[in-house]
Amino acid sequence: MGFEVSKRIYEESLKLIPWGVQTGSKRPEFLFFGDGPIYVAKAKGSKLWDVDGNEYIDYIMALGAVFLGYNRDEWLKFITEQMERFVLTSLSSVLEYELASEIAGFIPSVEMIRFFKTGAEATSSAVRVARAFTGREKILACGYFGWHDWANTGYGIPDEVKKLTIWFKWDEIDRVEGLLENDEFAGVIVEPVMGDEPTREKLEFLRDVTKRTGTLLIFDEIKTGFRFPSGSAQSYFGVIPDLTVLGKSLANGMPLSALGGKRDVMKEMAKLWISTTYGSEALSLASSLFTVREIKRAGIEKTWNLGEMMMSEISRILCSYGMDKNAKVVGYPTMFWVKFEDEDMERKFIRAVMRRGILLKRGGYNFLSMAHDRNDVDRTLDVVDEVLRRIGRGDDV
Ligand SMILES: Cc1ncc(COP(=O)(O)O)c(C=O)c1O
Repeated sequence: MGFEVSKRIYEESLKLIPWGVQTGSKRPEFLFFGDGPIYVAKAKGSKLWDVDGNEYIDYIMALGAVFLGYNRDEWLKFITEQMERFVLTSLSSVLEYELASEIAGFIPSVEMIRFFKTGAEATSSAVRVARAFTGREKILACGYFGWHDWANTGYGIPDEVKKLTIWFKWDEIDRVEGLLENDEFAGVIVEPVMGDEPTREKLEFLRDVTKRTGTLLIFDEIKTGFRFPSGSAQSYFGVIPDLTVLGKSLANGMPLSALGGKRDVMKEMAKLWISTTYGSEALSLASSLFTVREIKRAGIEKTWNLGEMMMSEISRILCSYGMDKNAKVVGYPTMFWVKFEDEDMERKFIRAVMRRGILLKRGGYNFLSMAHDRNDVDRTLDVVDEVLRRIGRGDDV
């Protein structure tokens, strides 16, 4: 399996594009450690083909953004028909209302909703709304919320901005109570699923303590939204936040994100300047309408069961080669992670399965889509079995 075309284009791109690519996790040194596919030629269902002509079963699925599968025929027809009518015009689109009606109530905390393009935009709007509603400034956070200033600690961000976001880890949950009781926070924003954390009890605890201290609880369901049997992590765990951020699976790969929440909180939004030219862009709204309706119609049970089987088979394979101390399978059936103790071993594993036609994610979730079927999973498990057997024995992969 060669990657010469990818490598050549990447070398040229580096001269024109800082990073060479647009998405941090797609940087070649992160994705396949500098020796794997970089550019895609075509994608269909659960498969993608790179520009060198290699075929893969994909479990990265656009970092979880594609849940129906790539380029499903009926989906393509639905958005193509919309494209023939209009994409973006001088007036708003009825699709905004239609989509809001589909999502309200399906995600329990969502009584009102606004649409955006990226996850970062939607999480930033949640923070603005929480600050306006509570009249407070600080945010307590656990997770990844995109690249905007309030959500990062790195180079290029003013110290004054950094001071307003306090970060915690799930194993420091006891600290949270003290922080919230001794200081005034506008909101606590968390990803409600991060590998094998948090437990339902930790989410319930957050709900209680935020209620008690007048702090808004914000769930970033950009990865989890529509990937859980009843539609969301909040319904799965039975813990309902004040605000919910959606993205990724919301529109099956088209750029759409959303902020939804309780009516009294969301009404505050009408007083704020939160606006974007592309908010009524109709292809993404149509894509989302098709996706949400299809998820509601078909349910995700088949995909969930397939993922459950995959998780338990990979755990069994790890055990059978005495590798259950080296790696474990964490997460949930539609988004799980083969978590290695040793980074070098993980690299070996990811590269070896990739070279056998299976794309798994380094240091993060593998995402199942509704297009993955039993044949894909059987083929994947055969490859995982062969690779782990070799690694377990210390053979070359
Ligand atoms: C939980 C979560 N929040 C926010 C974001 C940022 O979304 P985007 O990259 O669309 O801005 C991501 C992206 O990976 C995410 O997983």
